[in-house]
Amino acid sequence: MPATPQLDPILAPLARPRRLRRTPALRALVREARWSPEQLVLPVFVREGIDEPVEIASLPGQYQHTVDSLVELAHEAVKLGIGGLILFGVPAEENKDEIGSNAWAEDCIANVALRRLREEVGDSLVVMADTCLDEFTTHGHCGPITEAGEVDNDAAVACYVKVAVSQARAGAQVIAPSGMMDGQVAALRAGLDDAGFADVPILAYAAKFASAFYGPFRDAVGCELTGDRKAYQEDPANVREALHEVELDLAEGADMVMVKPGASYLDVLAAVADMSPVPVSVYQVSGEYAMVAAAAERGWIDRERIVDEQLTSFVRAGADFILTYWAMEAASWRA
Ligand code: PBG
Repeated sequence: MPATPQLDPILAPLARPRRLRRTPALRALVREARWSPEQLVLPVFVREGIDEPVEIASLPGQYQHTVDSLVELAHEAVKLGIGGLILFGVPAEENKDEIGSNAWAEDCIANVALRRLREEVGDSLVVMADTCLDEFTTHGHCGPITEAGEVDNDAAVACYVKVAVSQARAGAQVIAPSGMMDGQVAALRAGLDDAGFADVPILAYAAKFASAFYGPFRDAVGCELTGDRKAYQEDPANVREALHEVELDLAEGADMVMVKPGASYLDVLAAVADMSPVPVSVYQVSGEYAMVAAAAERGWIDRERIVDEQLTSFVRAGADFILTYWAMEAASWRA
C-alpha cells in the first residue's frame, strides 16, 4: 500500500474550508444567500370563456384559470405565504383587435379577475398586474403597428397608460409594464398620478431581453406572434444597454426594477443589483421552468434540488424578489 499523500504541514492547518461544511447545521449557519416564500411572486393566467382550468401543455403544472379557480389558487398562495401574484389576462379571440383595446376595458378578463382577487385576498399578498397589449392584439405585438410595419412606440405607450389606470381601478397593487417601449414608465407614472393612483408603485421590466426562453409563455397566453420582438426588447448580448435602460426607468420614476429572463442573465442581475437604489427583481421565465420540468420528468435531474439551487442563485446575484412559476411548489417545500 502506498502511503497516503500528506499535505504541506505548515499550510494545511490554515486552509481547511471543509471544517465549515461538515454538518447541515454548520452549513446553514454560514450560508450567505437564502430565499424564502415571501420573496416569490407567481405569474398566473386567467382566460376568458372557459369553464374549467386548462393545463398549459408547455408549462406542465401551470394553468389557464377561470376567475373562480384563480381565486382558489390565490387562497392557497396566501396559505403558503408567497409574496404575490402577477396576473396575465387571456381574452377570447373575438375580443382581440389591432390595438389591443380590450386590455383597458373595465370588464376585460384581467380586470374582472383583479377585482375578484382583491375582494378575496385583500392585502394578504401583493396583487400585481402585467401591463402590456400582446395578449390582446390580433398580431401578438406589444403595441399598434405602423404602416411601415413597426411597433409604434408612442401609440403603444398611450395605450399602456389606459391599461394601467384600468388595472389600478380594478385593484392592482403594483403595475408592471412589460412592453419595452421608450418612455413607458414616465407616462404611466403621470397617468396613474392624474387618475388618483399616486401611491400605486411601478415595477419596471427594465432589463428585458428578446429571449427564446419566452416560448412557452406564448402558448400560455394564446399569443399569435409571428416574427420576433427584437426591435423593442433588448439584445441578449448587451449588458451596458441593460444598465442604461435601468437608469432611464429609474429616472422616469420606477419604484422597482426587473431583470428578465433569469438564469442566463445572472451577470446582468448582479450588475443591476450593484447600481440600483430601488428593489431589484428577476423573472425566471416560462422556458426556464419548462426545461427543468421536462428534464425532471425524464428523471434526468432532481427537480427540487435544481429549483432550490436556481432560486438561491438569484438571491446570491442580488435579487430581492423572484417571479417564478415554481413559487407555489417551492413554498410548499418550506411549509
Ligand atoms: C409580454 C410578456 C412576455 C412575458 C411576460 N410578459 C412575453 C414576451 O415578451 O414575449 C414572458 C414571460 C415568460 O416567458 O414566462 N407581455
